[in-house]
Amino acid sequence: MSQSPAEQPTSPAAPSMVEFTATDFRRCLGEFVTGVTVITTVSPDGTPYGLTANSFSSVSLDPPLILWSLRLNATNFKIYSTAETFAVNILAEDQIEISNRFAKSGPGRFEGVAVTRGGDGVPLIDGAVAQLECRREFSYPGGDHVVFVGRVLRVRNTDRKPLALRSGAYMIVHPHAPLLSSETDESNIATLKAVHAARPVIDELGHEMDRSIGLAVWGNFGPTMIWWWEGTRPLRTRLRCGLVVSLLESATGSVFAAFAPSVVTAPFIDEELAAAAKRGDPLRFSSRSEFAAWLEKVRKTGFAASYNLTDPGITDDPVNSVSVPVFDAEGEIVLAVTMMDNADTFGESDPAIERLMAVADKLSQRLGYRKDRPAATR
Ligand SMILES: Cc1cc2nc3c(=O)[nH]c(=O)nc-3n(C[C@H](O)[C@H](O)[C@H](O)COP(=O)(O)O)c2cc1C
Repeated sequence: MSQSPAEQPTSPAAPSMVEFTATDFRRCLGEFVTGVTVITTVSPDGTPYGLTANSFSSVSLDPPLILWSLRLNATNFKIYSTAETFAVNILAEDQIEISNRFAKSGPGRFEGVAVTRGGDGVPLIDGAVAQLECRREFSYPGGDHVVFVGRVLRVRNTDRKPLALRSGAYMIVHPHAPLLSSETDESNIATLKAVHAARPVIDELGHEMDRSIGLAVWGNFGPTMIWWWEGTRPLRTRLRCGLVVSLLESATGSVFAAFAPSVVTAPFIDEELAAAAKRGDPLRFSSRSEFAAWLEKVRKTGFAASYNLTDPGITDDPVNSVSVPVFDAEGEIVLAVTMMDNADTFGESDPAIERLMAVADKLSQRLGYRKDRPAATR
């Protein structure tokens, strides 16, 4: 029985096409991480063509089909829409230059680029992670693009690592660090696991905030920097890996002094105090009780800051740093994450600190830390 228009289920008002801006839409799409390809083809007179595309996707295994989409106003639209065959070159992590080159308008894209000719004379870009030689099977209209579906004729694979793209930024792909069961971990494994988990997170935070961020572990000489993400603002600091930092003077050191078992840190604090006294150097804290009060504050606020720190040969210009702890499932501090910037551009009320603390909290949770579980006996 057919329904009259009045009886037909009414669909909710068709969403207006302008409920989001082009920027919102692009931003959403950018969150979908893709690889980067160069789609190559050849014209009947033998001229090679290539264009950077991240719209590549798999479609079907049997028959083997893939797709990619091309802007209607691309200069070489006609070439691609009439070419019988094309190849998808999945770029490797060291082929950013190739990606940029094949995204620029104008001739000469293949100049100096090593290629091998595929079965149909289509150029295949050397060094690519994988290549798929295809025959154009279907074309579909897709708004301001046309979608090409290709039947895959031949494939080549290597064990190279691919280049990735997210929100317009090139990325390197690392396997998601699998977190081992925390219950049985020796402390070294716990630290290693934390470093694996923290590294990509730190890089991302540094990129987002454009601030220098360091990772520190407790080494056999005390708090030791093991990784740095450098922000783009010039920081006259030699952010060396392997640098052992002061427990009393640095934000990183304060975090370990505040949260690591005192039986571990006390000998190092004593040694630092004795060495400073011997040299006659003024210290940030004139007494142990003053230092203890400071550590109490660090435990309460969850972060330590140091201001206007200079250290000849390391930080020639004064820097401000804020450091936060990362805990493992046992409630032990495994890392300190330290954000640093020139003293005049970074202070205790900087909103970046909130992000830093949130990131460290999340890392701790990933490592199995639960705030409500008491810390291991000190
Ligand atoms: C990472 C990246 C991905 C791209 N993906 C596509 C794509 O999927 N489809 C497309 O038509 N253009 C894409 N482009 C843009 C084309 O590569 C670029 O418009 C073209 O090479 C410029 O040449 P033309 O202006 O002469 O057409 C992409 C560019 C970059 C940098």
